[in-house]
Amino acid sequence: MSDCYWQPMLDVSPAQEVFTPKKHKDTGLPVTGREKVLQQCEQTNPIPFTECISPAMLNKCVKIGEGVYGEVFRTSNRRQSVALKIIPIEGDFEVNDEPQKTFDEILPEIVISRELSYLSEGDVNYSNNYIGVNNVSCVQGRYPETLLTQWDKYDSRKGSENDRPDIFDDEQLYIVFEFADGGQDLESFEFNNLQQAISIFQQTAGALAVAEKELEFEHRDLHWGNVLIRSTKQDHVIFYLDDQEYRIASHGLEVSIIDFTLSRLQKDECTIFCDLAADPTLFDGAGDYQFQIYRNMKKKTSINNWEPYEPHTNVLWLHYLADKLINSKTYQDSDTKAHKSALATLRSFYRHLLSHSSAEQVVVESELLDL
Ligand SMILES: Nc1ncnc2c1ncn2[C@@H]1O[C@H](COP(=O)(O)OP(=O)(O)OP(=O)(O)O)[C@@H](O)[C@H]1O
Ligand SMILES: [Mg+2]
Repeated sequence: MSDCYWQPMLDVSPAQEVFTPKKHKDTGLPVTGREKVLQQCEQTNPIPFTECISPAMLNKCVKIGEGVYGEVFRTSNRRQSVALKIIPIEGDFEVNDEPQKTFDEILPEIVISRELSYLSEGDVNYSNNYIGVNNVSCVQGRYPETLLTQWDKYDSRKGSENDRPDIFDDEQLYIVFEFADGGQDLESFEFNNLQQAISIFQQTAGALAVAEKELEFEHRDLHWGNVLIRSTKQDHVIFYLDDQEYRIASHGLEVSIIDFTLSRLQKDECTIFCDLAADPTLFDGAGDYQFQIYRNMKKKTSINNWEPYEPHTNVLWLHYLADKLINSKTYQDSDTKAHKSALATLRSFYRHLLSHSSAEQVVVESELLDL
């Protein structure tokens, strides 16, 4: 597992109030990771599952995804379809062959998800293409039976690589994220045409550029399981970069970027990042271009130090995504003139993509965003 840090710089700032080692005024005792996470969850103590997920929501849960750290269920609240990401924490045994995260280790994912979600309220820099965070809760107890049933159904349908979550007892702690439902991941999504795929690429590049500008953000793990796609009735997806408006033809689709476990950002003079050096196996993967990207990112760091801002990592992931759109996706209308001409444009863009230093430079200087 990689280690995550909240690295303060010299001056005290609002973010440091939350993230740097602090002491209680009355007792002089240090504020713990548990207290910081509970503060983020606006709770004083962990709550039971029944308080976090209403019976109506629980009964509609369907498992839709999984990762090493957690299980993801789709359900709906009174207003919208949502995704619940449930991550066991603090236990002293391995889950899915990995040690469970501690309160301190889960804090960065909470903060980064929130900061990126706030970009949809931004002004000078605005993007609505990061997954919306509705709620974050700290929960304690056994895994609900209804969710175990849904876990089994997913396992029969798709085959799960995770441990069945009946291994947890009454004392187990979890972080439950309630995200907006971002739709289907790029890996499984079927495009009607290449214009749609180009729009997905443009939206992703735009979102990365906005977060670079506002937060010195690097995603550092933007494989096609972490780009979600849903349909939209809006003709255009808009973002603001440095007060400049950009309009991208949506072709009926909208992107949501997810999964900030490896991400890096800076806010109020504090840098939050994950020390990828702590997990050398991340750089050993073979087969897919995805695994080369981790090695290429490492080459951009000096002495495997993951704290400094190196926005070229965002360009490396854009290059990977463009490669997937060109070489791993199929398009129904691939015989048409429109397809061939769009493919030629995308290919020529792809050839020059790696010469850009950041997603911002891709957006500002590249002809693909003017299509
Ligand atoms: N908000 C969402 N809307 C729809 N589907 C989602 C959402 N969040 C996650 N998913 C689905 O669940 C899968 C796993 O989620 P995610 O990538 O956040 O977790 P993870 O892979 O466990 O993270 P990690 O890389 O930290 O292990 C995604 O690939 C996606 O299919
Ligand atoms: Mg993921």
